[in-house]
Parts: sequence; C-alpha cells; structure tokens
Amino acid sequence: MHLGVNIDHVATLRQARYATMLDSHNTEPSILAAAQAAMAGGADSITLHVREDRRHMQDADAMAVRRDIPLPLNLEMGATQAMLQFALELKPDFVCLVPERREEITTEGGLSVAGNEATLQPLVSALQANGSKVSMFIDPEPEQVRASAAIGAAMIELHTGRFANTLGAERAAETARLVAAAELGHQLGLEVHAGHGIQIANLAELNAVPHLTELNIGHTIIARSIFTGLTAAVREMKEAIESFQW
Ligand code: PXP
Repeated sequence: MHLGVNIDHVATLRQARYATMLDSHNTEPSILAAAQAAMAGGADSITLHVREDRRHMQDADAMAVRRDIPLPLNLEMGATQAMLQFALELKPDFVCLVPERREEITTEGGLSVAGNEATLQPLVSALQANGSKVSMFIDPEPEQVRASAAIGAAMIELHTGRFANTLGAERAAETARLVAAAELGHQLGLEVHAGHGIQIANLAELNAVPHLTELNIGHTIIARSIFTGLTAAVREMKEAIESFQW
C-alpha cells in the first residue's frame, strides 16, 4: 500500500500570512522542507493540488517540488485547458483529475466522468502521452468507474469523503459502494486508490475495500503534525496503514 501525502495545508498556512509577499526573504513554512519531512517519515509520493484560484499551492511550488524532491509527484488539478498546459510543462509522475468549484473548502464530490467523456478523454490522452499516469477522482458509482476505464485512464481514486463523514448504517452503505466500485475498477484493469477524510481511526473499516494500492491523505497528517512534527505524523500514519493486510 502506497501513501501519498498531500501537503496543500502547508501552503495554506504560508498564504495566510504571505500571500501578497511570496518573494519575501522570511516567507514560511517552506513547501520543500515539508516535502522533505514527509519523505523522511515514509511518504511514497507527494500530492499537491494547484487550484485554479491558487489559494494554496502556487505554480512555483509544484515546479520546485518536481525539481528538488526525489519522490513521485502527484498533481491534483481541475480538468481545464490552462491546467493541462501547466501539467504538460511540469510533467508530474501522476495527475489526478478533480472537480473544482471556487467556493468549496475542499474537493466536494467526485468528477462526473460519465457524460463528459468527450472533454476528458483528450486531456487524459495528452497527459499520458506526456508521461503522467492519470487518475480520475470519482464517487464510488459504477457508471463513473466504467466511464473512467472507457476514456483510458490508468487509475481511479475513490472519493472516501462520505465514508469518512458518516457513521453507522450510512457508513456501512458507503463502504459497500466503495467495495463494489473497487471490484469493478479492478475487473476493468484500473489501479484503485482512495482519498479524502482518511484517518487512522477509519483505516480498519476502509480495509474492507479490496484492491486498494494507494491512499492519499492530507488533513489529518498536517493536523497531527502541529503536535508531533510532520515526519513523525507521516510515520505514524504509515505504521498504522502497515498494521493492516491490504
Ligand atoms: N484526494 C483528493 C483528490 C483530494 O482532493 C484530497 C483533498 O485535497 C485528498 C485526497 C486528501 O484529503 P484529506 O485532506 O481529507 O486527507
């Protein structure tokens, strides 16, 4: 099981103070130092979301991580022509296509691949021809899994937000949807990842979902790092993941 560590919140903290003075000598915290700390804790890849509004990660952050951090880079991005041009230049190892709405606090809901195949397929082809393996961030719905396979994406990332934010019967139903989507994705030859709201406390239940090869985790690790430091927070998560058979 690979652990992708999303360090967007490190940029959120930096922007809170320095958004208008990013070239200043005293800008902190450092994105590169955060990526290095995550690597030291056992991160298998670094995930950054360069949003259309550039509210946290900037283009220069992604470029610097690409240049200086010897881990695979996973770029999360909206499915737009402008982001496509940026990704073609950046050449990340992986691209995860996500839906984006300016007013949302974080990515809410998965990408509607079904119904938007004609727009998404050329993006996926261009990125994969440029050496970036593409994943579609989707809700665990059979039609989204099928559409992702149909347009040639190599991977899907199943949105675990609803799973994470519910309990009891609702969580059991969402887990069942994740299991079915993962089974179908695997049958169709897709690599199956999961992300959003994953915490140490819900790993045991997530473990019911078969065929997962990567978890992308951000918020809980950065939250924990306030108390432990980032390397220790990543290491704790990595050890918790490794305590299960996936
Ligand atoms: N995967 C995707 C596609 C995301 O958009 C996010 C949130 O930025 C994550 C994973 C990580 O979610 P969390 O911060 O809740 O761990």
